[in-house]
Amino acid sequence: MCGIIGYVGGSSAEPILVEGLRRLEYRGYDSAGLAICNGGVLTCTKVAGKIARLEEEIDGRELPGQCGIAHTRWATHGPPTQDNAHPHTDCSGKIALVHNGIIENYAYLKDTLEKEGHVFTSETDSEVLVHLIEKYFKGNLESAVQQALQWVTGTYGIGVVAVDDPGKIVGARNGSPLVVGIGNGEYFLASDVPAILRHTRQVIYLDDQELVVLTKDGLRTSTIADNEAVTKIVQEISWDVDRAEKEGYAHFMLKEIYEQARTVSDAISGRTVQDDGTARLGGLNLTDEQLRSTKRVIITACGTSFHAGLIGEYMLEEWARIPVEVEYASEFRYRNPVIEDGTLCIVISQSGETADTLAAMREARRRGARALGICNVVGSMIAREADGGVYIHAGPEIGVASTKAFTSQVVVLSLITLLMGRMRHMSVADGQRTIAALRALPGQIQTILEQADEIKRIAKIYCEHDNFLYLGRGCNYPVALEGALKLKEISYIHAEGYPAAEMKHGPIALITKHMPVVVIATKDSAYEKVMGNLSEVKARRGRILAIATEGDSEIKNHAEHVFYIPPTLQALTPVLSVIPLQLLAYYIAVMRECNVDQPRNLAKSVTVE
Ligand code: F6R
Repeated sequence: MCGIIGYVGGSSAEPILVEGLRRLEYRGYDSAGLAICNGGVLTCTKVAGKIARLEEEIDGRELPGQCGIAHTRWATHGPPTQDNAHPHTDCSGKIALVHNGIIENYAYLKDTLEKEGHVFTSETDSEVLVHLIEKYFKGNLESAVQQALQWVTGTYGIGVVAVDDPGKIVGARNGSPLVVGIGNGEYFLASDVPAILRHTRQVIYLDDQELVVLTKDGLRTSTIADNEAVTKIVQEISWDVDRAEKEGYAHFMLKEIYEQARTVSDAISGRTVQDDGTARLGGLNLTDEQLRSTKRVIITACGTSFHAGLIGEYMLEEWARIPVEVEYASEFRYRNPVIEDGTLCIVISQSGETADTLAAMREARRRGARALGICNVVGSMIAREADGGVYIHAGPEIGVASTKAFTSQVVVLSLITLLMGRMRHMSVADGQRTIAALRALPGQIQTILEQADEIKRIAKIYCEHDNFLYLGRGCNYPVALEGALKLKEISYIHAEGYPAAEMKHGPIALITKHMPVVVIATKDSAYEKVMGNLSEVKARRGRILAIATEGDSEIKNHAEHVFYIPPTLQALTPVLSVIPLQLLAYYIAVMRECNVDQPRNLAKSVTVE
């Protein structure tokens, strides 16, 4: 949430900052701005609206200078107006700051600073930081930032520049991600790697309570608390810049849907052991004995990752016979959860920085559970704080609606299940069958993607409707939830996901020919029951779109439209059945002229509670 980019070096800062902002726009797109230092002058330009508006605003004007910071905002405190856009400046207009996070004690700080004569021009919590820095500034920016942050409670990733300490960016982090890019005589500060990947692959991830000073000649990292130098490891980003580009697709979401044959393959690659019918997962940091003695698993996550967790529950109980509970992270952290000995907490997060998920993981660990993170973003908070984990290796997910992360999360959960199942009740033969099914998935996904035009045709038929019901049973119930979530978040259509049999306990009252029912009706143990549920819908003149297994001709007697997917093991069906639903949501949103990659009110990485 909120994107930050900073640049100091020998080139003109403005184009680098604007280009970096475009790559961070998925983090928020309410308002945008930049501040550039040039000699003794600080130029600050900001607008309400997207980066394109900022570019229009700058167009034709010269913004010279080789040191600057920029920001794209997702509003928390104060509406998305120009005044509330970042960067914020101090009373003298000589210090500028960009901030991602939430300052919890901002009301107290603002009150105190106002009494001391500081004049505020925005409703944001962030603005207190720049006035606090102004208060301590005596010509050395890092010293002022360090002193100011001693008073701050909350989360922040910040970038600060000052004309009276020129050629310098100071960054600091507590709870909101910041990465430093190391170039040749130039340095970058950013919320996320895609913003700087065009310029460098050498990065340093700042940790909480760390501060960095960047000039064109070098960098220094230290602790915020006592300014002690910290030595950081320079890491090399392995994925190339294309993976953060649209590569000719109309939207990131479509590109990411299409990547799934590869990303699922990457999630499996090198992690199965054919002869033993089991999985090999390097980063778990759990001994075989600890895995074997796990008595209970708690899975916690939010949104789409939560839906993947529900499928994990199904798999772990079915194959490994371990009792599992899945909880929304936002609920888990505020309950008084019972964590017994032998509890393993699996935390799922694409971004690895979702505030509720991080807090839930900390709570579980505080109570004695070991935490395993399933994350996509390498070096993210959850990945680093967990006791162990598995990266899904899906590459950057830029589309705000999560797609490829979901399928890879399910695959990684199946690998964890395979590993734990083989230590318990699962036979070698069953393990080998599972591996074969996993290895077949990428090819099967490709087959589905090759029929995307069929989903597009169906989307045209249904795109005018304003309410949808999604039904599924067993491991396809979470897919119904996920299909409904995709539709509502990008096309603003009301959609509900329900366990198919639960429909008759209430939602059936909604069924008319105006409320399409999307059902996942694959050939599995629940098939006959789902057919019964469909008859109930049909009897009420409901229109049905079914996702069915290839070769099933009976389904045509029940459903008006059918989309076929290849057969696989029941527990792996979600990896295939979700793809037509992702495509359906995508095409309907495009047909309704919605902004697919930047749906209203949303942002990737929800770093607020
Ligand atoms: C939906 C979506 C969100 C995220 C949720 C958790 O398409 O993207 O529901 O799944 O905000 O995010 P992560 O997985 O980053 O913790």
